[in-house]
Amino acid sequence: MKLVIKGGNRLWGRVRVSGAKNAALVLIAASAVAREEVILDNVPRIADVETQLEIVRALGGKTVWLGQNTVSLAWPGQIEVTPPYHLAKKLRASNLFLGALAARQGRAEIPLPGGCNIGSRPMDLHLKGLHILGFEVGLEHGFIKARARELQGARVYLDFPSVGATENLIMAASGIPGTTVLENAAKEPEIVDLASFLNALGARVRGAGTDLIKIEGVKEFGGTRFSVIPDRIEAGTYMIAAGITGEAITVENVIVTHLQSVIAKLQDVGLEVQSGEDFVAVKRTGGLRATDIKTLPYPGFPTDLQSPMMSLLCLARGTSLIVENVFENRFQVADELKRMGGRIRVKGHTAVIEGGTSLLGAQVKATDLRAGAALLLAGLAAEGETEICQAELIARGYEGVIEKFASLGAQIRCIS
Ligand code: EPZ
Repeated sequence: MKLVIKGGNRLWGRVRVSGAKNAALVLIAASAVAREEVILDNVPRIADVETQLEIVRALGGKTVWLGQNTVSLAWPGQIEVTPPYHLAKKLRASNLFLGALAARQGRAEIPLPGGCNIGSRPMDLHLKGLHILGFEVGLEHGFIKARARELQGARVYLDFPSVGATENLIMAASGIPGTTVLENAAKEPEIVDLASFLNALGARVRGAGTDLIKIEGVKEFGGTRFSVIPDRIEAGTYMIAAGITGEAITVENVIVTHLQSVIAKLQDVGLEVQSGEDFVAVKRTGGLRATDIKTLPYPGFPTDLQSPMMSLLCLARGTSLIVENVFENRFQVADELKRMGGRIRVKGHTAVIEGGTSLLGAQVKATDLRAGAALLLAGLAAEGETEICQAELIARGYEGVIEKFASLGAQIRCIS
């Protein structure tokens, strides 16, 4: 799939944020512990969600879309414990069935998710935690295997506040006798959403959103109806778009506290940012200033908005610095932005952007979801036409991305 963007239009108007991809994906996996029907609202209709639901069906679960963004999930008595490789390899989040299946069936066999080009994406912290909880874990023929042995709640320290490891260990510990304490846990809003969802099913998870999470195991999980939180990364992408093209964009249906680091950075760059109960309005009133960005686990600046910010900083007057502290190799988009006239030097975990250039449309390639979003943003500001190939990667994480940008005045079309 290719996206063709004709740059130069100033974007203006309101855009409504969809449900969070990274919350929906873990809630779909977590539903495997439920003994009764689970209904999820505000689920984004994106490729990754469709794939995660395909895995549910491949494991024996039933999924029915009840509405545009509402899906019902039901799991019969006996279920499979091995997601099929051809589906699991499509997305990293397939590894989140590890904790859910371990909690429900006492065992799971998950294809080791392929590393993608933002880093090696190891699973060592997931495995260390499951081992401490009493699972026998191993890696055989490219599959991670976890099998219940002496299951008992325990204290697990995470060397890095890994989002996925925190999520898998919360799910696994929810079904284990005794108390589990996760130390140095990830604090992302998607973790809080998972804990709220599991508690609605009857789990007893306390402290989500802090670095110390306590889980009391329970025997049975019921069913629930639950609404997915708004997508803070999608929201930030549209907020950055206002800075890239000028004029003003109001991003609606957000949780403002999830966006504090993004709001602060956009104000550093010289944008006017107003926020209300459930919206953030971003207005560009003049030139853009260079700034420095360090990506960090939540509540620091999110790594998923690092590439979109790189596009913005190409236009900001002065020299900006980006330090990527979360993934080992997340500057792939720099080479593509250079083809559009961006002046970027990458050395290890640091990128130096000599801003103040104007960008020129070019043929570029999306190397991952967020790099694709960054190139879309750059195309909005570039002179002439930008053609993004592998643009299906963008559709993986942004619901209605063409319609939403077109409604703001972008000239954007898809050619398959
Ligand atoms: C989640 O990935 C998100 N994906 C990512 O979003 C996001 O960038 C990331 O968290 C960080 O916020 C989903 O939620 C589906 P991590 P995850 O485990 O869980 C290292 C997007 O674009 N690590 O917090 O895989 C790892 O190598 C995607 O929406 C270990 O060393 O991220 C990485 O450097 C991209 N050992 C760092 O931790 C482990 O066992 C952060 O990884 C696990 C992770």
